Amino acid sequence: MANVIVFANQKGGVAKTTTTLNLGVALREMGKRVLIIDLDPQGNLTMSQGMNPDAIERSMFDVLVHRVPISDVIHTVEVDIAVASIDLAGAELALSALIGRERALEKALVEVRDRYDYILIDTPPSLGLLTINAFVAADGVIVPVQCEYLSLRGLVQLENTLSMVRENLNTRVHVQGIVPTMYDGRTLHAREAIEILEEHFGDLVYKTRIRKTIRYAEAPVKGSSILRYEPSGPAAQGYRDLAKEVLDGAKARDDA
Ligand SMILES: Nc1ncnc2c1ncn2[C@@H]1O[C@H](COP(=O)(O)OP(=O)(O)O)[C@@H](O)[C@H]1O
Ligand SMILES: [Mg+2]
Repeated sequence: MANVIVFANQKGGVAKTTTTLNLGVALREMGKRVLIIDLDPQGNLTMSQGMNPDAIERSMFDVLVHRVPISDVIHTVEVDIAVASIDLAGAELALSALIGRERALEKALVEVRDRYDYILIDTPPSLGLLTINAFVAADGVIVPVQCEYLSLRGLVQLENTLSMVRENLNTRVHVQGIVPTMYDGRTLHAREAIEILEEHFGDLVYKTRIRKTIRYAEAPVKGSSILRYEPSGPAAQGYRDLAKEVLDGAKARDDA
């Protein structure tokens, strides 16, 4: 049964999409079976694998709203990817009228859960119904945070939403890790951001820091992960290190 991990932070531009793709490709390199899901109407994850969300016929919108099997919207690129299209923007409204609106994604995943080791879900920058669907389907949540503009208030709000989901919809969902992104070790500001995070969240903060480099912005323009774009560069290594930490965490939980 796949381990379902959601990448969430209601702040935009913190590297949710970058982390979903590159961690997914790193886990694939390590021999894991990986599905990534684009749940953001902006379709950045879909684009980052070289597909155009405006030209896609069937997408996660149809899966959530019309109950099309998720296997119908999975494309195989560097990893398997369930794509978004522009109509996903209407999904929140369309879902809100349905019974079981928070469980549409959980239901859709039943079909494929035993085909993958990891299902990674990219979410929009909000805590709306799409993100709630992801939390309901999830085993764990990984929160990318930008070292440049650390928002502790945002993290508290995210944790409050998660406890609401735990009470009412999915008792097992929890924050399994916090990834510091866009880290520039030369600035005091970035080092302080890490200290503050570790003070508040302790061991939940991964030891891997995803460094700030333009490479991460270049790769998706070529429809590629950083691991394919520059396989032996330090940027690719960052996500390999993170993948190891995620696997170690999963192993520790299995052993416990
Ligand atoms: N470590 C990094 N260093 C520099 N730029 C980054 C890094 N990670 C992501 N980016 C760039 O920052 C922008 C926002 O990242 P993205 O993954 O789209 O964030 P989100 O999905 O949270 O909105 C993108 O242009 C991306 O290429
Ligand atoms: Mg994004």
